[in-house]
Amino acid sequence: MRALTFVDRAGRELLLRRLTRQDAEPLFVLHQELISDGRGMVLIPEEAHPPDKLADKIDEIHEHGGVFLGAFDQEELVGTLDLARIPRSMLRHNATLGMGIRPEHQGAGLGRALLEAALGWAQSNGISRVELFVRGDNLRAQQLYESVGFVPIHLRKGFVRLPDGRLVDDLYMELLEPDRDL
Ligand SMILES: CC(C)(COP(=O)(O)OP(=O)(O)OC[C@H]1O[C@@H](n2cnc3c(N)ncnc32)[C@H](O)[C@@H]1OP(=O)(O)O)[C@@H](O)C(=O)NCCC(=O)NCCS
Repeated sequence: MRALTFVDRAGRELLLRRLTRQDAEPLFVLHQELISDGRGMVLIPEEAHPPDKLADKIDEIHEHGGVFLGAFDQEELVGTLDLARIPRSMLRHNATLGMGIRPEHQGAGLGRALLEAALGWAQSNGISRVELFVRGDNLRAQQLYESVGFVPIHLRKGFVRLPDGRLVDDLYMELLEPDRDL
């Protein structure tokens, strides 16, 4: 995907581009921030991948024909979206989506911008089916996904146990034939 710029609702000009393994350290920092915020996450800080594992993950996603996008505000990584593809000829039209925006950059349109860029890329790169898992209490993410055509497929009741012991559902969603005009 070619790099592109996007101005969010707070007037910040953001650069959206593919990550490289050199971005692993800032990706680790962003993950730590998202995990400590906790909303929408299913990891605790000790379970976060260290930077060397993240560097390998970025390479692996690209080697398998997927894309790992980052959004940068003044060189600082503030959001990511990855589409991971299965490296099998009969399955490579599928991708699994994950995304996260730094808390202080949320709610300003960046999530939608990353999602639309990624789905446009997917459409022109032979991905006709995208799937994801989202926590049942993450209504913001669900609304975003539904607005671009994802449909809920299956609810896993009580799949997530939060650190305070509460059980939360988890929703499996899929998008077929992403729309070229997104
Ligand atoms: C979910 C997330 C990716 C959305 O990104 P974002 O940049 O905050 O979202 P946007 O500002 O682009 O808003 C997109 C849509 O989300 C929904 N949304 C945004 N803020 C919302 C809020 N406060 N309440 C409910 N829905 C909201 C709206 O449908 C919005 O549509 P709009 O473009 O018409 O306003 C982001 O909030 C995030 O990273 N959350 C924490 C990690 C996470 O949940 N990741 C997803 C795991 S599956």
